[in-house]
Amino acid sequence: MANQDITDALLQWYDRNHRTFPWRVSPADRKRGVTPRAYHVWLSEIMLQQTTVQAVRPYFLTFVERWPDVHSLAAADDDDVMKAWAGLGYYSRARNLKKCAERIVSDHSGRFPEDIAGLKALPGIGDYTAAAITAIAFNRHAAVVDGNIERVVARLFEVSEALPAAKAPIKDHMARLTPQHRPGDFAQAMMDLGATICTPKRPACGLCPLNLSCAVAGRDDAESFPVKPPKAERPVRRGATFVAVAGDGAVLLRKRPPAGLLGGMTEVPGSAWTARRDGELGPQAAPFAGNWKMAGTIRHVFTHFELRLDVYRADFTERPALDGGWWSEPERLSGEALPTVMKKAIAAAIQSEPDTNLTKKGLLL
Ligand code: ADE
Repeated sequence: MANQDITDALLQWYDRNHRTFPWRVSPADRKRGVTPRAYHVWLSEIMLQQTTVQAVRPYFLTFVERWPDVHSLAAADDDDVMKAWAGLGYYSRARNLKKCAERIVSDHSGRFPEDIAGLKALPGIGDYTAAAITAIAFNRHAAVVDGNIERVVARLFEVSEALPAAKAPIKDHMARLTPQHRPGDFAQAMMDLGATICTPKRPACGLCPLNLSCAVAGRDDAESFPVKPPKAERPVRRGATFVAVAGDGAVLLRKRPPAGLLGGMTEVPGSAWTARRDGELGPQAAPFAGNWKMAGTIRHVFTHFELRLDVYRADFTERPALDGGWWSEPERLSGEALPTVMKKAIAAAIQSEPDTNLTKKGLLL
């Protein structure tokens, strides 16, 4: 099959088999002239970086209901945006999202630039997102390559270089395949094919609309494309975290510094672990004296390291004060900007002594 045949076969398949998402305009609606809103495309693409479509769906709906356009997001309170983002991970994305909205309002009268260079000049928009917005929102030709597309193209053309060297030839192939007339649908069709048929494990080559053109279709080694680089060891870092619980179940929280890992998010006080260094261990690292008891160790995997946090808990009748900290009542806790690792720490502390106000009040974690 020539490139043109691949393109036609895939678009025909997409017309019948596309997935439905709240940020997506169906091919039938597109043909009727409906165009996706750049705000929706941008927001979804930022959320979908490193996160699954299932996880993103409720967050996307919450965001567009609360902040229906780029003006309202630009005017939103930073902390409210971080709270609404809590749980999605990679929090620098949320900070850049907010900055990007502000810039679009201040420098572009609230309209997204329609070209790659203009988009890439904005906070949080890199090669991938700029290409995705150009193709999907503005229906302009751009080579969109995300993880799913990388896999489909690497298999289709049996790209033999290992990642990341494979990225350049894969992008060239994608640029040649992408049609002028439906670049956005084509990119999303490749994503859907990668997510549903050309899956990482056990691809369903028998069902694939491109199997006659695919260099590796049906082969035992199809799964081995794209070729991966040797795995780097993920280092383990350790630290301690201190869950102070008041008589009514309130928990002492504080805000992390604005930059760096989990920057600007809320946390339980703890020792100063980083991706590169262990934090202090043991109850002497506590922010103030108390009857600190070990409640367990939680594990959380970040991209570049694994964190093992010893969780200590102490109960207080008089609430000690902490510079920059606040006590969060059980009914407020679920609305705090707590990243998943901190929710795990609080959950471990609660489970160590379940018979407290915190559990009785039905803390939502
Ligand atoms: N992953 C990233 N962007 C996507 C999109 N527009 N549709 C489906 N999955 C995606």
